[in-house]
Amino acid sequence: MEADTIILGAGAAGLFCAGRCGPGALVLDHASRPAEKVRISGGGRCNFTNLHARPEAFLSANPHFAKSALASYTAQDFLALVESHRIPWHEKTLGQLFCDRSSRDIIALLLAECDRAGARVQLSTVVTGLSHDGTRFTLATVHDGRHETLQARRLVVATGGKSIPKMGATGLAYRIAEQFGLPITETRPALVPFTFGEERFGPLAGVAVPVRARANGPAFDEAMLFTHRGLSGPAMLQASSYWREGEDLAVSLLPGTDWAQALREAKREAPKQSPKTALARHLPARLADHLASELHLSGNLAGLSDARLDALARSLSDWRLKPTGTEGYRTAEVTLGGIDTKALDSRTLEAKAVPNLFFIGECVDVTGWLGGYNFQWAWSSADAAARAI
Ligand code: FDA
Repeated sequence: MEADTIILGAGAAGLFCAGRCGPGALVLDHASRPAEKVRISGGGRCNFTNLHARPEAFLSANPHFAKSALASYTAQDFLALVESHRIPWHEKTLGQLFCDRSSRDIIALLLAECDRAGARVQLSTVVTGLSHDGTRFTLATVHDGRHETLQARRLVVATGGKSIPKMGATGLAYRIAEQFGLPITETRPALVPFTFGEERFGPLAGVAVPVRARANGPAFDEAMLFTHRGLSGPAMLQASSYWREGEDLAVSLLPGTDWAQALREAKREAPKQSPKTALARHLPARLADHLASELHLSGNLAGLSDARLDALARSLSDWRLKPTGTEGYRTAEVTLGGIDTKALDSRTLEAKAVPNLFFIGECVDVTGWLGGYNFQWAWSSADAAARAI
């Protein structure tokens, strides 16, 4: 069978690209359902873009690479498409746009765009071989148990990263890049919860608190959630993309709070109260309890000098934590790193050394913050490739 363009991966980037490529596009996926990650995204409501999607919100060995694609297909462009499909949406916080009803609305949009363009989507198709003779890509596939040979002039690789293998992630894009001699930057799980040894925070599981979190990158003011195994919540997921093994996390609890002033005031107003009680006026009781024991706070506030209170205030606004690791690809929302952008044209996502071979979406070394940025990269990179096709 012959197609003008074969797109590997019926996820966010692959389907969107097909809908913009037109009738000659054929999308292949080994899964039996399309866009499974879109379905589970955003807690089932798909945080489909972010109004503040700017290059600074993306990590890459080349921070300039994403600029061109993000500028030529913007969050406003995708929002206009969402509205043209009459999908109700809302802004949750920090420019994050979600479906009012369900992420299935976005999947329906992607499939309707493929239909409208005349692109075909073929699921349950496993790729067993790939070759290129200089003009045509030939794919050996098994579809519903039948062996097929497919040929196309162009190949778009949109098979995503390594995160959540249970949902079909395979790393095929990296193997294809290697086959064609394209470099790959180190890949790591990102937007992933931290683990701490010996259930350090076990008794705090379920407690959430607003923090400013930082790990060798920008600071994020969002919620932190204690889990049985460690720390999660948006602030921790964001910080995880910048963290490396062995490094500390810096956490400021209730970042708007002047802790030194709050503690001195508490001492003045009720000198007989325990430090734990004073902390519990601002923080969840279980966390106040934990901090009092971790920081060896006993007696009452009257027994603590102002210098000791100031030191306590510093600990609260610069709590240093050393994770033992992360939950890894099992739960990571995305893969950091990937196809080295040096090998790709930033305007088209085409491999510089292999004409008509494109890489889009998460498999490329461009990783967004939490909050709709990764889908925006999927849309923008897919659009850039489709324009070139
Ligand atoms: P994606 O992973 O979507 O698609 C890849 C496709 O390729 C899949 O359909 C897969 O089956 C197929 N494939 C893989 N290997 C194959 C092979 N060997 N042969 C054939 N097909 C193969 N982002 C965001 O912006 N907002 C959000 O709300 C969320 N929420 C979220 C929640 C959770 C739980 C996760 C895990 C991730 C998110 N994300 C997110 C991230 C977002 O899902 C991710 O960035 C995009 O899905 C990436 O789109 P791609 O199309 O590149 O890959």
